[in-house]
Amino acid sequence: MSDGPTYGFDTLQIHAGARPDPATGARQTPIYQTTAYVFRDADHAAALFNLQEVGFIYSRLTNPTVAVLQERVATLEGGVGAVCCSSGHAAQIMALFPLMGPGCNVVASTRLYGGTVTQFSQTIKRFGWSAKFVDTDDLEAVKDAIDENTRAVFCESIANPGGYVTDIRALADVADAAGLPLIVDNTSATPYLCRPIEHGATLVVHSTTKYLTGNGTVTGGCIVDSGKFDWSANDKFPSLSEPEPAYHGLKFHETFGPLAFTFHGIAIGLRDLGMTMNPQAAHYTLMGIETLSLRMERHVENARKIAAWLEADDRVDYVTYAGLPSSPYHDRVTAHYPRGAGALFTFAVKGGYDACVKLVNALEIFSHVANLGDARSLIIHSASTTHRQLTPEQQEAAGAGPGVVRVSIGIEDADDLIADLDQALSKASA
Ligand SMILES: Cc1ncc(COP(=O)(O)O)c(C=O)c1O
Repeated sequence: MSDGPTYGFDTLQIHAGARPDPATGARQTPIYQTTAYVFRDADHAAALFNLQEVGFIYSRLTNPTVAVLQERVATLEGGVGAVCCSSGHAAQIMALFPLMGPGCNVVASTRLYGGTVTQFSQTIKRFGWSAKFVDTDDLEAVKDAIDENTRAVFCESIANPGGYVTDIRALADVADAAGLPLIVDNTSATPYLCRPIEHGATLVVHSTTKYLTGNGTVTGGCIVDSGKFDWSANDKFPSLSEPEPAYHGLKFHETFGPLAFTFHGIAIGLRDLGMTMNPQAAHYTLMGIETLSLRMERHVENARKIAAWLEADDRVDYVTYAGLPSSPYHDRVTAHYPRGAGALFTFAVKGGYDACVKLVNALEIFSHVANLGDARSLIIHSASTTHRQLTPEQQEAAGAGPGVVRVSIGIEDADDLIADLDQALSKASA
């Protein structure tokens, strides 16, 4: 699309980043199923390898199909650039990689996807990094947790699984005052419901595996850069502000300005960590994004109906959906997430752990899977699966205690989903 008028979300989700294929006129973005790209001549190759010219070298770094997806997600999130990679977890490592070094820490919300809690509390230690977990509603606790070795603050916009909604602006202000970037995992909200950069986030990460693709076909991740952070304001981010030996002393921030993080992600991150998205995955995700707004509207509409029905049911103890008027986050949702609180929430079944297991086994339309953000409705007992590696305290803090199940409400007929829950709850409480 040309740099002309500003288009609406529904137009951008179909067109941003894409143009008819220059070689064939193909209207849909082709799947460039190629590993390498022929250089025009030796000078062209040298310029590409020196980062003096932007182009395609090798698909571990760049690929035209993936590039369209990068531009599309960056546009929808209101960022200046994006780097796609092989999964949401890869995106988290890729986001932290330029910021961290041995001895550095990230201050992270306690309310995160269980896999992220494990990645941050266990795996990153092997790089000499660490995480400090805090309740991000307690801004004083966040301030106290930040020390001279902190390099980022990390949260989810709508947290998986608990129906918790972050006040991104308040957290961004705390990070900003400490000279730190705020990284927001926007997987559950998607840019249709929330654009964290507008609320002060520096970087946005996604598991594109979920709502962006929307059909449970491929794994992928993406990091979007706001382009607004001054990486040279202090000496905390030498990978971006200091000379890079692998590129003859090039300084990413000085050379690429607002695109420094994106260029670093491709030229160093993908080149050396190799967590690359393949063009087939990019294709499926591009197909999914074309209908993102339509799907999210239906996801939210169904989630509202089903959460209200569950809340009124005697067999259910409580429902954590932030879109319910009874939610402690209802005002925050109205102010910051006006299109709705997503379609992911937990509910507690009377009868605890055993009743949860019976419910999951009895459902017919809901699939029992470790995934979310599919067009299909999904359910999981987080404590025994996705959050299994966490301590009981961490499970409770994440909203994934043993007595709750997590649902990802799909876009089927809400009445059919309610009927399915009704019959399964009867079996669970029998
Ligand atoms: C909120 C959130 N972030 C990140 C991830 C990790 O994504 P992936 O499975 O694509 O690595 C998940 C996975 O469930 C998630 O729910």
